[in-house]
This record gives sequence, structure tokens and C-alpha cells, in this order.
Amino acid sequence: MIRLLVNIDHVATLRNARGEGYPVPTEAARVCEGAGADGIVFHLRGDRRHIRDEDLPELKSVVKGRLDFEMAATDEMIGLCCELKPDLATLVPEGREELTTEGGLNMRPLVKDYHSRIVPALKVAGIEVSLFLDPVEEDIRLSAEVGADAVELHTGRYANLFRVGDRDGASTELNRLADAADLAHSLGLKVHAGHGLNTENLGEFLDRVPYLQEVSIGHALISDALFYGLEETVRRYLAVLRG
Ligand code: PXP
Repeated sequence: MIRLLVNIDHVATLRNARGEGYPVPTEAARVCEGAGADGIVFHLRGDRRHIRDEDLPELKSVVKGRLDFEMAATDEMIGLCCELKPDLATLVPEGREELTTEGGLNMRPLVKDYHSRIVPALKVAGIEVSLFLDPVEEDIRLSAEVGADAVELHTGRYANLFRVGDRDGASTELNRLADAADLAHSLGLKVHAGHGLNTENLGEFLDRVPYLQEVSIGHALISDALFYGLEETVRRYLAVLRG
């Protein structure tokens, strides 16, 4: 069964727009898990544009399923993560000007630091480590070399091609994602995926990409919740995931 982890960053974005303390991200987490989600993801960015430090202890105490701390591998974030001890840390590249995480990690220049310092620091704290990657063979092989437990395949390109109706392009990208999942699995890595997934594009993705254990979905799900309610929306995503 593929797990649904809901990214609640944009509940915090809405809260921060007025600074009056609502909507409360942990309340959203509670509703998502109540509706059957298997866990919660948050991305603590360097600029704190959505989730903020003060949200962390509350998320840790409220979330009953898997808690995924998405972050750039800075010393500050590694320290906060080791203190919080979520189930999973998903390491992503982070650009100050980007609207959202734009691409996967380019592993080659990171190998030494990830192998000797970053991945061991998280694993010693008992935290599973996942690396956010484009479906690129070298990046997947290097993720296994640095000792990661999982890779999260970046589905943004597939989602964009699907959205503009480029069926051939989307299909080619699904082949790349499927090959990447195959390779990751053969190297002993768990396979996660996320970015731009929604109820429209998820079904075909699931049909084509093997070995998936977990998907991380935020923007589209929180947007759908404006119209259908959060509980009902989580159920709709679970219905697609669970057939
Ligand atoms: N996975 C990672 C690593 C991400 O950076 C994001 C975006 O924050 C997501 C999943 C979720 O993407 P989306 O909000 O488009 O569903």
C-alpha cells in the first residue's frame, strides 16, 4: 500500500499572509491524519516563508503517523532536525528566489559531504534519510553510495507536461521515472515521489512507476481542500492511491 504524506506548508502560507495565527498547520495535520493520511510533510525553509520554528514541537506531538522534515542540508537545519527527531528527513536543494523546489539534488558535488557528515548525522539521530532527485541514473547511484535510505523522485516535470496536455512528453517522462524507480529499488533504496501530483495525474503515474512506497503531496491537495474540504480531499487522494 502506497502511503500518502500530506505537505501542510501552504496552510502556514495562508496563516502567514495575515499573521493572525490561523489557519493552524497542526490542526490541518490532525484532520489529514483523521481522514486516513499516513503522515505529514513540512519544509522548513531558510527564509521561514511558511512553516516556522515554533511549529515544529507542536507538529512532532500532534502527528501520529510519519513525520517528514523536508529541508536543505545546512548546519542549522541538520541541528534542528536532529533535535526534533522526525521519522524522515528529505533533503532538497533550496534557492532563495524559487517559488517552490525547482529541481532535484545534483549529487556529484555533494558526495563527500553527504557521505562523511550529513547522512551519518541524521542516521545517528535515528532519522531515515531521503534525497530529492530528478530521475537521473548518476544521482540515484550516488544516493546509494552516500548511504541514503530512500530517494524521492521529482515528479514536477511529469506534472507540467501532463497539465499542458503533452501526452507524449508526459509518457516519456514516466518512462524515465519508472527506470529511476527500478534502479533505486535494485540498489536497495526505498522509492518516494512528489511534486505537482494531483487527482488528475496521479493515476497514470501510479500505473507506470513501480516500487513506490510513499507520495508527498501539498499544493494541489491544499488547493482542492478550499472547495471540497480537507477531510473529503484527503479521502479523494486516498481513493486514487488505493484504487
Ligand atoms: N516533495 C518535495 C521534495 C517538495 O519540495 C515538494 C514541494 O514542497 C513536494 C514534494 C510537494 O509538492 P507539491 O506541493 O507540488 O505537491
